[in-house]
Amino acid sequence: PTLPGLDSSKLTVTKTTTPKDILSSDELVFGRTFTDHMLSIEWTAADGWLAPRITPYQNLSLDPATCVFHYAFECFEGMKAYKDPNGKIRLFRPDKNMERMNKSTARIALPQFDGNALIDLISKFVKLDERFIPSTRGYSLYIRPTMIGTQRTLGVGPPGSALLYVIASPVGPYYPTGFKAISLQATDYAVRAWPGGVGDKKLGANYAPCIVPQMTAARKGFHQNLWLFGEEEYVTEVGTMNFFVAIKDKETGQKELITAPLDGTILEGVTRDSVLSLARERLIPEGWKVSERKCTMKEIASASEEGRLLEVFGAGTAAVVSPVRNIGWRDRMIDCGLKEGEEAGELAARMKDWIEGIQYGDESHPWALTI
Ligand code: COI
Repeated sequence: PTLPGLDSSKLTVTKTTTPKDILSSDELVFGRTFTDHMLSIEWTAADGWLAPRITPYQNLSLDPATCVFHYAFECFEGMKAYKDPNGKIRLFRPDKNMERMNKSTARIALPQFDGNALIDLISKFVKLDERFIPSTRGYSLYIRPTMIGTQRTLGVGPPGSALLYVIASPVGPYYPTGFKAISLQATDYAVRAWPGGVGDKKLGANYAPCIVPQMTAARKGFHQNLWLFGEEEYVTEVGTMNFFVAIKDKETGQKELITAPLDGTILEGVTRDSVLSLARERLIPEGWKVSERKCTMKEIASASEEGRLLEVFGAGTAAVVSPVRNIGWRDRMIDCGLKEGEEAGELAARMKDWIEGIQYGDESHPWALTI
C-alpha cells in the first residue's frame, strides 16, 4: 500500500502571540534573525507524511540519541522570496530547490516528498510572515528547508522517522562588505568533494569540514578559499559557491565563460544554472562561448599573466554573484582582471543585474513564481 504523501490541504496554522520586531535593513546579519513562524512536517516509515503544521518559531526537542546528531542524516536547501515593486511576493525557481532536495534526501535514506506540495506550503508560510520580507534592493527573505532523520537510535540504518521543517530569515548582502570583489586562497591541502562522493548533494555534512580551510584562508587575509581537485588542480568551487571564469583564447581571441561540469563533485547550483542559461541566451549572440568544462589553476594563471583573464566570480543563492579580485595560489598572487578601484567585472555586474531584475520583478520571467 502506498503511504500518505505530503498533503498541503491538511495544513494547520497556530499563530504566534508574541510577534517579533522587524529589524531595519542595516541591522540584518545573514541568517541571524528569523521570522515569527516555522513550517514542520513529520514523516514515519509506518504512516508516511503526517499533517503539515505552521507554528510559532520554536526550539526542537530531540532525544540525545536521535540519529541526526550521530550519523548526520541532514540535508537542506537555500532559496529566496522577494518583494516586487507592486508588493507581490516572488519565489525564485523553487522547483529547482525541490528537485535538488529530493536528490539529497534520496542519497541519505531520508524520504522523498512532492515538491509542488512543499512549494504550496512554503508559499503559505511566507505569506503569513510576509512583513519580514525586506523591500530594499539587495535584500530578501532567505528560506531554509531542512530535513533531518529523527529516529532515536545509535544503530546505523535508514531512519524510521524524519522531520521536514522550513525556517526563514530576512537577509541583505551575504558578505558584510556588500557587492565588493573578494580575494581567494587556493586550498592545496584539502578537497571538498571527489568522484563517487556526495559533493553534488546539499548535505550539512559537506559544509562543516569546509570551515577550517576557510579559517586558514582568512588568517592569511583572504575572504574565502578556492577549492581545487586532483593533481591537475582543477578549479571546482569557491567557498560555498559555484565558480565562473572568463578567459580570452590565446590564438583566436574568442571570449569564453567557463564553469566546472556537473561530474558529481560540483553542487548543482540554481544560480549556476541561471548564469549559464542567461549567458547562453544573452552572451552567445554577442560572440561569447559558454562552456561547462574543467579548467586548471595553471590555465587561469597563464591567462592572467598574458592579460587574457577577463574576470572571475562566484555564484550562489546567498550572494547571487560575488566578484573576485585575486587568487593566492602557492606563493603567487593571481590578478583576476579587475581595474584599480573596480569592484566587479562587466560580466559579473551584468549577471547580477539580469538575475536581480528577474528576482525583483523588473522583468517578467518564467523563473519567478508569484505567490
Ligand atoms: C549559497 O547560497 O551560496 C550557499 O550555499 C551558502 C549557504 C550555505 C549559506
